[in-house]
Amino acid sequence: MEPIYLDHAATTPVHADVWEAMLPFYTTNYGNPSSTHSFGRAARTALNRFRDSMAKSLGCLPGELIFTSGGTESNNMAIFGIMHGDQAGRKHIVTSAIEHHAVLHPCERLESLGFEVTYVPVGSDGLIQIEDVEAAIRPDTALISMMYVNNEVGTIQPIEQIGRLAQKLGITFHVDAVQALGKISLNLAELPVDLVSLSAHKIYGPKGAGALYVSKHTKLLPHVFGGSQERKRRAGTENIPAIAGFAKAVETILPLQERNYTQASRLREHMISILEQQLGCEGFVINGHKAWHVPHILNISFPGVSTETLLMNLDLEGVAAASGSACTSGSLEVSHVLQAMKLPENVTHSAVRFSFGMGNSKEQIETAAQKVATIIERLRNK
Ligand SMILES: Cc1ncc(COP(=O)(O)O)c(C=O)c1O
Repeated sequence: MEPIYLDHAATTPVHADVWEAMLPFYTTNYGNPSSTHSFGRAARTALNRFRDSMAKSLGCLPGELIFTSGGTESNNMAIFGIMHGDQAGRKHIVTSAIEHHAVLHPCERLESLGFEVTYVPVGSDGLIQIEDVEAAIRPDTALISMMYVNNEVGTIQPIEQIGRLAQKLGITFHVDAVQALGKISLNLAELPVDLVSLSAHKIYGPKGAGALYVSKHTKLLPHVFGGSQERKRRAGTENIPAIAGFAKAVETILPLQERNYTQASRLREHMISILEQQLGCEGFVINGHKAWHVPHILNISFPGVSTETLLMNLDLEGVAAASGSACTSGSLEVSHVLQAMKLPENVTHSAVRFSFGMGNSKEQIETAAQKVATIIERLRNK
């Protein structure tokens, strides 16, 4: 049996059109965009075209996009760039307890440098409440950093509301939208946001490519120095093949968003209904908000069976799932997201994330769900 990949929130395969769009920039059009000869000019023209096309799809100006190496770099660039550059010397950040480590760890680093961070709590449904954000704000708050879609439980956060509040109070607002891009609407012209982190490999683009949207009104201190690339905001020769791939992924995936949303919703429902038939409604718990969630992420706990044991058994059976955050899945710590949701220990210790993608079929979900149910029954009856 071909292995079944249900870990699309960790990463996705590169789309065939994306791969094709990248190749010429390794082989024939390989110039450095900073070079003034014809090879360089060709690369510069291509780079401008990719930036223009992405900006158009996202609803921003081309100059408002900085190409980076991915979501992690974009988050770091936003957080350090705002906090180190705050003209008024404000030293307080508001973020949430369920952010990705690419936000939490930069915040911890800033704390060690004398900055202060308030971690807004979430309810047992994983949702951030606007009242809690409001309560966390202080006169010296320079930055609010909140994720759009949580990568472990798929909860969609009230970004618009938080953005309006930040705007009203003159606080810079950064959004980690790595898990939102290509999944839910993301129109930067309409959202009240100042900085937005994006990553290519979650949307069938290459790994090591990302972008940070920085609104033209936002002052960001650079933290990589060297050449004048990206308008002196991020030095270093641009990774043109990766940027070509990212632009192609955006161009290819965004128009499929609605279709993919419907398909993922069906797969999710199908998986849940098979598990209900096999294990009964009492046999498992779905983590996350009932309504405010993306359909391609399904986080389920099977009390009595440890995450590690289930993942190992599933892997042996050819089903790839995850324990939550991709970046920590090797370490098998209990998820900080589920802990922040204050779920009981038998739920936090038995959670598995299934995340669906364009390549998954109904038959694959059927097979995977049957395997999950068989393994759970076997382990519970031991
Ligand atoms: C919400 C979120 N932010 C940031 C990242 C990091 O992105 P990248 O892998 O492109 O560095 C991830 C990756 O899992 C993510 O899910």
